[in-house]
Amino acid sequence: MAAPNSILYGPFEQLLTMEAVPAKGALSDNDLPILKGAGVLIEDGLIKEVDDYKKLQHKCKNSLTEYHVFPDDHVALPGFIDAHTHICYAGSRAKDYAARNAGKTYLEIAKAGGGIWNTVQHTRSASLATLTALTIHRASAHLRRGTTTIEVKSGYGLDTENELKMLQAIGNAAKASALDMISTCLAAHTLPKDRKIDSTTYLKEIQSELLPEIRKQQLADRVDIFVEEGSFGVQESIDFLAYAKELGFKCTVHADQFSAGGSQVAVTAGALSADHLEASGNKEIQMLAKSNVMPVALPGASIGLGCDFTPARKLLDAGTGLAIASDHNPGSAPMGHLITQAAILGTFEKLTQAEVLAGVTIRAALALGLHDRGSLEIGKLGDLCVYQLKDLNEILYHQGSIDPIAVIKKGEVVIDNTIGAE
Ligand code: NIG
Ligand code: FE
Repeated sequence: MAAPNSILYGPFEQLLTMEAVPAKGALSDNDLPILKGAGVLIEDGLIKEVDDYKKLQHKCKNSLTEYHVFPDDHVALPGFIDAHTHICYAGSRAKDYAARNAGKTYLEIAKAGGGIWNTVQHTRSASLATLTALTIHRASAHLRRGTTTIEVKSGYGLDTENELKMLQAIGNAAKASALDMISTCLAAHTLPKDRKIDSTTYLKEIQSELLPEIRKQQLADRVDIFVEEGSFGVQESIDFLAYAKELGFKCTVHADQFSAGGSQVAVTAGALSADHLEASGNKEIQMLAKSNVMPVALPGASIGLGCDFTPARKLLDAGTGLAIASDHNPGSAPMGHLITQAAILGTFEKLTQAEVLAGVTIRAALALGLHDRGSLEIGKLGDLCVYQLKDLNEILYHQGSIDPIAVIKKGEVVIDNTIGAE
């Protein structure tokens, strides 16, 4: 048997482990688990030890395959997890953006045949190879900024053939990318406008034709639905998710983006997460607080549409958790810069650094139902983001304008910005 590949990373001026950060509730910066002068020992992709760097150096001096030294002034934290994106698409919606800024609403543009339907037409026309290449290209930009796990939805196919094509493209892109991609079926994004079909019949069609095929081809184990006027209603969405669960899918919901309803679906269906929530009121917030559903704020969509942010402060104070994701998509959130958006949400919603950083690491992992990442603990994936900074507070302070100096995925340096640096 080959000797294990063990690499010691460090020393880090500050190492934010996120260990033991609770899934729910407000967080104070004083509670952040920060180690000084620590190192991380990674063996065959998994974290073997997290401890004082010198101690680890001494202990492992005869067994290490490699040292990766970050000399002075480096901080590290778990690789970021972006729990909600739509980066598999073709075309551009720059025209929608201009129309919205000139006074039209997102829903008005959608009703007039623009919006999601515009992207569906471009995505249907694109080949599998093109969609794969576009997804790889966008994912690699996320990786450069420190994202080591990204969720990617279908939802621009809206028929069996094209939804399968999207999920195949995501699967192919995952194989060709250094970061992990988690696929989600969002065939229930909106109604296919090329057919006269009502929402209930369309959902039944997804249930009988598409979902079994996705299971058979193992293309995804997650299902999402957009609960909104013009897309899907509350009761039919509850029924749809119950069926998906029976087939073995995990569930998530596009909830309360413009009107309330989706959070009720998420809670009733026992979804992992309820994403958006810009229109959630006190009733919805209290309902989420009593549940185990992880709210996911998508500040990129608020910035893209010029509407309210998810009431993140109220949610946390009511006792929910909070993940933050980019929602990177061609319509409402074309920027796709997770850390910039998380920092801006923090400023507007008065979130602590702890709440924002937990939202893009450990709580984002929980939003995806993943327990093997999101914190730097023994046995978890060796996914780290390293910055050439003295103080972790600098990351959000610079609002995403400083990129990591190194990104480490399963113990391997996959982004190395030290090359060429002084
Ligand atoms: O999360 N709200 C629905 N879906 C996406 C937008 C997709 C699009 O506009 O293309 C969202 O914002
Ligand atoms: Fe979305």
